[in-house]
Amino acid sequence: MTRTNILPPLRLGAHTIDVPLVLAPMAGITDLPFRRICRRFGVGLTVTEMVASRAVDMKRARTQKIAQVAPDEHPVAIQIAGSDPQYMRQAAQWAVAQGADFVDINMGCPVKKVCKQLAGSAMLRDERLVRRVLDAVVQAVQVPVTLKIRTGWDERSKNVATIARIAEDAGVQMLTVHGRTRAQMFHGHASWEDIGLAKQAVSIPVIGNGDIVDGASARAMLAVSGCDGVMVGRAVQGNPWVLAEVRAALLNETPPPPPTPAERWRIVEQHLRELCAHHGQPTASRLARKHVPWYSKGLPGSAAFRSQFQQLHDWQAQLDAARRYFLSLPEDEQPVAYAA
Ligand SMILES: Cc1cc2nc3c(=O)[nH]c(=O)nc-3n(C[C@H](O)[C@H](O)[C@H](O)COP(=O)(O)O)c2cc1C
Repeated sequence: MTRTNILPPLRLGAHTIDVPLVLAPMAGITDLPFRRICRRFGVGLTVTEMVASRAVDMKRARTQKIAQVAPDEHPVAIQIAGSDPQYMRQAAQWAVAQGADFVDINMGCPVKKVCKQLAGSAMLRDERLVRRVLDAVVQAVQVPVTLKIRTGWDERSKNVATIARIAEDAGVQMLTVHGRTRAQMFHGHASWEDIGLAKQAVSIPVIGNGDIVDGASARAMLAVSGCDGVMVGRAVQGNPWVLAEVRAALLNETPPPPPTPAERWRIVEQHLRELCAHHGQPTASRLARKHVPWYSKGLPGSAAFRSQFQQLHDWQAQLDAARRYFLSLPEDEQPVAYAA
């Protein structure tokens, strides 16, 4: 089959990303085990969960774990957040020492605790501070610096094009835009038109993000925004194979069939084992109560399975219950909705 990539490869520093499909950073979800699962489905770039620059300064063990990247996970960006240029400079250098191919800066997080410290999306309200932080980070490291933003603080103060220009001028090499304002949190719809405003304002690559749930929505977002790549977030929860569908859409290929229940179980099992190896049993058990029910979404008997699974705290009991459930499904069973 001929591959007609509908987007040119992304070149960032020494790296070429053939298919510009990026896994969204999601705190509490896209840890190392889950990123490794997602890699198997053809993601071109992964980004770690956000690391607070102050936490780097405090040398917390948990911080080290969040920023841990796998030897076979390249290219990978480590994401840092904060509003103090000095801490951000240190955090960027630390990220490179942890193995980051790119340093990604978070100016999109809407969480109150983060915004109160004028970090995450709160930074978008202070364009001079944005410039100071970007300058500090770009000057601190040799690797490409990338930036992830929302379209502004609220509907009345959207400044996505201005921030994009500031970023390009400061030497940022790629921009990701989640097409919502901070005020929207995760409600309403992402505006792919607003992502296009950033794309029109700069010549660095712009990645579009927000509400991409399958191949068709990826292509629709690209058509509306004209941007250079796609970032997928919540749609991968319990559904990482959707990335193979999006990748196929970007390559003009027929999408692969979604996994059978047995294949699905193999993915779940690998995910669980890697969670345990990475976090240890108590944390892995807690995370399993989040991920495993997602994997069962839309399958027969999933509501009963979910409520039973949520009660389990013993690791072996969780493994056994999940195995029993997924392997009891008929081989041709598919979830009601393919993209969760
Ligand atoms: C639980 C959760 C955690 C998130 N954590 C981060 C984060 O650490 N850094 C970041 O830049 N964005 C974070 N995001 C935002 C996502 O990267 C993405 O921008 C957003 O979910 C919109 O994309 P989607 O519609 O494909 O989910 C998070 C989103 C969710 C739902």
